[in-house]
Amino acid sequence: MSEFQAKMFNKKAANPKNKPDQILDAMGLKPGHSIADIGSGGGYFSFRFAETVGEKGEVYAVDTNQEHLDFVRRNAEERGLHNLMPISASEGSLNLPEKALDFVFMRNVTHHMSDRAKYFKELSRYLKSDGRFVVIEYEQGRLISFRRLFGHHVSKQTIVREMREAGYSLEKAFDFLPEQHFSIFERIGRCNILRD
Ligand SMILES: C[S@@+](CC[C@H](N)C(=O)[O-])C[C@H]1O[C@@H](n2cnc3c(N)ncnc32)[C@H](O)[C@@H]1O
Repeated sequence: MSEFQAKMFNKKAANPKNKPDQILDAMGLKPGHSIADIGSGGGYFSFRFAETVGEKGEVYAVDTNQEHLDFVRRNAEERGLHNLMPISASEGSLNLPEKALDFVFMRNVTHHMSDRAKYFKELSRYLKSDGRFVVIEYEQGRLISFRRLFGHHVSKQTIVREMREAGYSLEKAFDFLPEQHFSIFERIGRCNILRD
C-alpha cells in the first residue's frame, strides 16, 4: 500500500498542472545547497533537489513512514543520487545537522503536524541563519472535496502566524499554484524589524 501511495504522491507532484518546474525556479535552490524535504513521501522533490544541488550539496528526505523512506532509498540508489539521505522522523527528534541547511521544504505535509509552531521552531535549529522555510500547502478547496472533508489543508494566514511564533516572517508568496498556497519564510532579524 505504501509503495502504491509513494508512487501516487510522485505522479501528482510531477503533474505539470502542479507546476513542479516553476516551484524549483521560484525557490532559487543552487548547486552546493543543503535542503531537508520534510514529509518527502515518494521523493519526487527530493530527487529533483538532489539533481539540482549536485555532488557538493545534500538532500535529507525526512518522513515518518518507513516504507516511503525505503522507496526513496531504492529509487535514489537506482538514479545514482548519492547526495540524498533518507531520515526517519518523529516530531521533535530529527537526525539532521544543526545550523547546516539552506532550506527546509514542506509540501502538503503541514496539515499532518499537531503542534506546528513548535515543530517549525524545532526545525529552525537545522537552518543556517540565512536559511529559508518553503511551505506549500492545500487551500481549503470546494465544499465537497477530499481535502476539505479530511482536513488536509491549512490556510496561508495560519502558517504565517505559526511561522512568526517560530521566529520566521514571510519573505515571498507565489500564487501560481492551482490548489495550494506557496510561501518562503526568512528568520526574523534586523531587516524584518526595519521593514515592519
Ligand atoms: C501528502 S504526502 C506529501 C509528500 C510530498 N511532500 C509531496 O509533495 O509529494 C505527506 C507525507 O508526509 C509524511 N508525514 C506525515 N507527518 C509527518 C511529520 N510529522 N514529519 C515528517 N513527515 C510526515 C507522510 O508519511 C507522507 O509521506
